[in-house]
This record gives sequence, C-alpha cells and structure tokens, in this order.
Amino acid sequence: MAEAKTARITVKDKEIDLPVLTPTVGPECVDIRKLYGQGGVFTFDPGFTSTAACESAITYIDGDVGELWYRGYPIEQLAEKSHYLEVCYLLLNGELPNAEQLEKFETLITRHTMVHEQMHYFFRGFRRDSHPMATMVGVVGAMSAFYHDSTDINDPVQREIASHRLIAKLPTIAAMAYKYSIGQPFVYPRNELDYASNFLHMCFSVPAEKYEVNPALARAMDRIFTLHADHEQNASTSTVRLAGSSGANPFACIAAGIACLWGPAHGGANQAALEMLQQIGSVDRIPEYIKRAKDKDDPFRLMGFGHRVYKNFDPRAKIMKESADEVLDILGIHNNPTLQVAKELEKIALEDDYFVSKKLYPNVDFYSGIILSAMGFPTSMFTPIFALSRTVGWISQWKEMLGDPDNKIGRPRQLYVGSDKRDYVDVAKR
Ligand code: ACO
Repeated sequence: MAEAKTARITVKDKEIDLPVLTPTVGPECVDIRKLYGQGGVFTFDPGFTSTAACESAITYIDGDVGELWYRGYPIEQLAEKSHYLEVCYLLLNGELPNAEQLEKFETLITRHTMVHEQMHYFFRGFRRDSHPMATMVGVVGAMSAFYHDSTDINDPVQREIASHRLIAKLPTIAAMAYKYSIGQPFVYPRNELDYASNFLHMCFSVPAEKYEVNPALARAMDRIFTLHADHEQNASTSTVRLAGSSGANPFACIAAGIACLWGPAHGGANQAALEMLQQIGSVDRIPEYIKRAKDKDDPFRLMGFGHRVYKNFDPRAKIMKESADEVLDILGIHNNPTLQVAKELEKIALEDDYFVSKKLYPNVDFYSGIILSAMGFPTSMFTPIFALSRTVGWISQWKEMLGDPDNKIGRPRQLYVGSDKRDYVDVAKR
C-alpha cells in the first residue's frame, strides 16, 4: 500500500504533520482541519485563492489548460452532442441517463413547469421597472412559502421534488419577470415544447398572435443553458452551499445563489460586457478602452475578461464565439458592429503585454450577450438566463453537500484587527 502523504509545518517550534489528500486530478490538498486544535493557529485566505472548501465529484476545471468537465465529460462534447435536460440529469445523478430514464426525467420536468397561480399576484407587488434579477431573488425565495411540502431537507423525497421544481420552474419565473418588466401578460408554459423552446415561447409570444419557435435558435439557447449549467465552487455555488450548510430550505439557498450571481464580477458580467462593447461602439475606440483597463487609477476593467481559475481560454468562451457567428448568420445579421468590436478587442487584448502577463482571456460572458441580444433579449435578462441555467448546478452541489458525511455548518474564522479590549466610557466623558 502506498504510504499516506503528509505535509509538515512548524508552528511556534512545534512540528505538525498534516494529511495530504489526493484528488482524481488536480492539485493535492493539505488537510488543515486539525491545525487549530494542534497548533492554535488559523490559516488566512480571503477570497479562497488556495483553499478547497469541500470535496466534490460534479465538475472539474483545469484552469491552466482551459478545460471544463461535467462528471468527467468535456464541455465541448456535451455542447455538441448532448442537450440541457440530459446534462441536468447527468449533473444531478452522476451518470448519463439511458433512453427510458431520460424520457422519464424530461416528462417529470415538463410537468412541473407551471407555477402556483397565486404566484402571479406575488409578482404584481413589484414595480414594473424592477430589474428581473431583483424580482427573481424575491420570487425564488418566496417559493418556500408556495411549496412548503418540499422544504424538509431531511426527507430525500422532498429534496428530489424541490430539485425538480426548481429546474422546471426557473425558466417560467425568469420569463414572468421579463414579461412583467415590459408590461406584457404572463405566458403559460407549453408541454409539447422542449425546455429551451418553451423558454423562448414564454418570453417572446403574446396572446395576440401565433409564435413559432425557430428550432436553430432553440438549439443555441439550449447550448447557452448547457454551458452555464455548473462551474464547481464559484462564488454563487459557494453561497448556496454556505446557506444550505445551516439547514436552510432549497428555495432559500437558490435565492441566495441568485443574489450572489447578480454581481458584475460574477454572473452580472454578461450584462456589463455587452454594455461595455456597445459603449466602445467602434473598432477605432478600442485602444482608448485598453488603455483605461490597464490604468491602475481607473476602476474600469474589460468586462468578460479574466477569471479566477482560467489562466487560459475559458472553453465556454470558445464555443460561445462560434455560436455567436452561427446565430447572427441564422438571423441574417451581417457585420454586427458589437461582434466586430468584440473580436477585435479580443485580438488586441491577447497581444497586449498587460493581458498576456496576467493571463487574462475572454470568459463565458464575453460573447454570450451578443447572442442573447441578437435573439431579442434586453441586457437585463442576461443574468436571469445565467441564473436559470445554473440552478441545476447549484441544486446538484447542494444535494451533494447534504449527502456528505463531513458536512457541517460553514463557519470561517477571522484575523481580528479591531480594537483590543477596552472599558466603556460614559457619553458625557467622550
Ligand atoms: N481588466 C483589466 N484588468 C484585469 C481584469 C480585467 N477584466 N481582470 C483582472 N485584471 C487584473 C487585475 O487588476 C489584477 O492586476 P494586479 O495584479 O496588477 O493587481 C490582476 O489582473 C488579477 O486580477 P484579480 O482581480 O486579482 O483576479 P481575481 O481572480 O480576483 O478576479 C475576476 C477574477 C473577478 C473575474 C476579474 O478578472 C474581473 O473582474 N473580470 C471582469 C469581470 C468578469 O468578466 N467577470 C466574469 C467572471 S466569469 C463568471 O463569473 C461567469
């Protein structure tokens, strides 16, 4: 038997041996759980740059090479050969379904797409000009009030039902948030449509006329869902896990994930990236923006560029770029100025010393907005679409966490730098 590996650290002249854990692939992890007990010290790692917060068998990223796998399957293969609901099954259950399992799963999800009718009135409490993400955080959080028969996290059947409800209803909720914001009536789901077509139908059809879903656009939509389905322990997923670690119900946890995703450094970057590309407007203005991005005194950053884990091309960005070309072609949009700016900006940045030395490459958000905008979505819908796609990843990670025997409430420690202990001074003497 191979000898168990250890890492030795010296703390206050005391040598401590810590176990080293070996993953399937990727860096080994020094298990520091006993460090405080044995050495009386914490580790300090704000932003978790060197800390694995959990064990997971769902998604793997090799950031140096630019690889992404769901349950071992490369994202390129899934984007080309699979489809979103099959990917959902894979993420949730660990294996690809056979034909019978897939059909059963698709039927199950399709039959859960409607939301409780009372939810329509809940929507009406929001201002019409609310950002759809604001509405989604509220409505998804409120699902625990509408579906309290699936909030007992200790009951595996309820956990399963909640997972299916979330995957099925998120597109309906996102579409309702959109319809509400533009003053159009809510559109009910249609069970004969596939997941992506149904979402397009709920967003773009109106009662006054027939709406035919373009199958090529539905395929592109489905691919966007697949590319966003999971991304291991990113900020929103870690938020879902942390919320879930206290025993909170799944709807509350996913609402927490949506709130975290909204930030421009995370899922909100797709909206920010397209707005930036539109603001740049023409290829001749790119150098001005590159200069600003490099200026330490200017808070401007190239949105859709850079990633905590990828120090190479984000594989999703490559697929997204091809998809952007295809979608614009299908829609007969030639010489789209935003796509031209994006491609040229990418080219210039990838030749620039600043971006090369910092290993800053386009991420998934760089091209997705161009596709979504060409399909007819306003920028405010980009992050809700990310959220509905990522729901399966969040719920798979939440489920995995609850089944982990090592799971305990997430409770980081801190490096306290506040005042030392002092006595209260009466207000008259201050
Ligand atoms: N434009 C210009 N400079 C950048 C950019 C950028 N987009 N991203 C990083 N840098 C620079 C930083 O200024 C920093 O420089 P320094 O070392 O001289 O201080 C260096 O590169 C490292 O950046 P950090 O912010 O320390 O890297 P971190 O891993 O913390 O951040 C992040 C990653 C948040 C994604 C960052 O690259 C960024 O803000 N990008 C723009 C927003 C974006 O596209 N977010 C989407 C991420 S993908 C997703 O969530 C789906």
